[in-house]
Amino acid sequence: MKVELLKLLREKKDFISGQELSRSLGVSRTAIWKQMQALRKAGYRINAVPHRGYELCESPDVYSGEEIKSRLGTKWLGRELFFYETTDSTNLRAKEYGDNEGKAGALFISEFQERGRGRRGRDWECPTGAGIIFSVLLRPEILPEKAPSLTLVMALSAANAIRDTLHLDVRIKWPNDLLINKKKICGILTEMSCERDYIHHVVIGVGINVNQREIPPELNKSATSLFLESSKKTDRTALLNGVLERFEKNYEVFMETGDLIKLKDEYERLLYNVGKPVRITGKMDIKEGQREDNNDDFFEAEALGITNTGELMVRTSDGNTINVNAGEVSVRGLEGYAS
Ligand code: BTN
Repeated sequence: MKVELLKLLREKKDFISGQELSRSLGVSRTAIWKQMQALRKAGYRINAVPHRGYELCESPDVYSGEEIKSRLGTKWLGRELFFYETTDSTNLRAKEYGDNEGKAGALFISEFQERGRGRRGRDWECPTGAGIIFSVLLRPEILPEKAPSLTLVMALSAANAIRDTLHLDVRIKWPNDLLINKKKICGILTEMSCERDYIHHVVIGVGINVNQREIPPELNKSATSLFLESSKKTDRTALLNGVLERFEKNYEVFMETGDLIKLKDEYERLLYNVGKPVRITGKMDIKEGQREDNNDDFFEAEALGITNTGELMVRTSDGNTINVNAGEVSVRGLEGYAS
């Protein structure tokens, strides 16, 4: 009920009577009064004026399941929301739920992860209260080979949410790292449970460095936070909800065709790599008519853009254009992380 009550107070943007609240929520006026007391105790500033009702004047700087849900403008994403002060990994929570018939759209958020996981077996660490850490559970009816594109859909959604909220020049380093001034501020880890031609579920986990005042020295050159780039503390609830609202829309656009055809231009506009030299390391995705060498090797090329299925198109030194697949290779700038 707290979530619905907060939602009604927010929507009204003015006084709302106790009577209207009790009618809308189907509870007594005493119950409303008690909830108001509880909200005030939690730091919400609520005006109560006889004959006019209640008005929400100020929300505390809280990051909680209730606060997030009461401000979330999505239709289906995050309608079911699990918030943890601490968990092992939100991707693991989402996977477990998915393995147990959990519904698509479920959202898992944590303030701290004891075993935060990154790509390629790395760890993802984020101090309590500083970042945005969440995973979404999806059950897309597409072939498993199309699922990696969903990572790009999330990268695009997160980049646009940060750009719109903070007006920072966020870029995407293919396939799914977000950069500001060549340093990473967001990582995405997508994991899938599937059979040869059927997806049981996909989990997309996102970590954003938001209000960290400093970055550990060993990561200082390659990572940053929104606070360090903007000198401002960010309202994490607003930003998280911005990412989720954009992702829900973009996901629906993606599902219309099962590929990135309608999102490709927008993604490429934010793609950091375009026109830049890249070093491609790892086993190549070998396709008919393309190079068949380079297994476990590396080569240098110029990034051109992406395909409708999210592969990076590159031009090699001998003038051939080939497509590389995110699952198989790693792409780096020639002078360090993203130069
Ligand atoms: C990367 O290596 O860049 C991907 C990092 C992904 C981190 C997020 S934080 C939320 C979710 N839970 C995890 O354990 N990992 C992802």
